[in-house]
Amino acid sequence: MLRISVLLAVLVGVAVAQRQLIRPDPQACKNRIKHATTFRNGHYYFFSWTHGPTKEHQRDWLDARNICRKHCQDLVSIETEDENRFVTEAVKNGNIQYIWTSGRKCNFDGCDRPDLQPPIVNGWFWSGSSARISPTNSTSGWRGGWSRTGGSGRPQPDNREFTETRTDESCIAILNNFYNDGIVWHDVACHHVKPWVCEDSEELLRFARFTYPEAQIP
Ligand SMILES: *[C@@H]1O[C@H](CO)[C@@H](O)[C@H](O)[C@H]1NC(C)=O
Repeated sequence: MLRISVLLAVLVGVAVAQRQLIRPDPQACKNRIKHATTFRNGHYYFFSWTHGPTKEHQRDWLDARNICRKHCQDLVSIETEDENRFVTEAVKNGNIQYIWTSGRKCNFDGCDRPDLQPPIVNGWFWSGSSARISPTNSTSGWRGGWSRTGGSGRPQPDNREFTETRTDESCIAILNNFYNDGIVWHDVACHHVKPWVCEDSEELLRFARFTYPEAQIP
């Protein structure tokens, strides 16, 4: 799988409204919510709407990332069709309107690499895992869970809000049948607030286990 540099993932946090990504908290990592039913590929997941204290909470994309990161997780990265099915099933079962994923468009400082152009086609990646997302116009393999339609009737990503308010739709949300299109990916401006899904971050777990060995983070 194509990887994008970790530096880019860090830059994302800095680039969004000049706010920073936070460091993991060893006790929060140790006590992160772990349900057996959400253990997949060696990772635990967290669904904000199934946990009492966050049940009603909605956060913007960076705040949601930081809540995950405090717990050695990050917003969910959906690298396979199977994982997409797992996450969309959870959205369906929870009967919630939408969620944040870690999907991000590389359109900030450091994103001028030729292979990322144009960003709306080639610039998408999972900031949680640093994996690239297939070009949105790719014709082979799994091209992701993008909706075939949206508010202006065009396939996603469409950066629709940019034409209306000059705010780039730089983050990937999963919307639950908003446009009679199923539970599918849409590019959305990152300042919107939504429930969220976290997934263990191998990078943050490695960092926290190494830095705080006394915490014995599982
Ligand atoms: C996808 O879009 C890129 C950039 O606009 C273009 O160069 C490429 O030929 C397109 N690929 C396909 C399969 O349409």
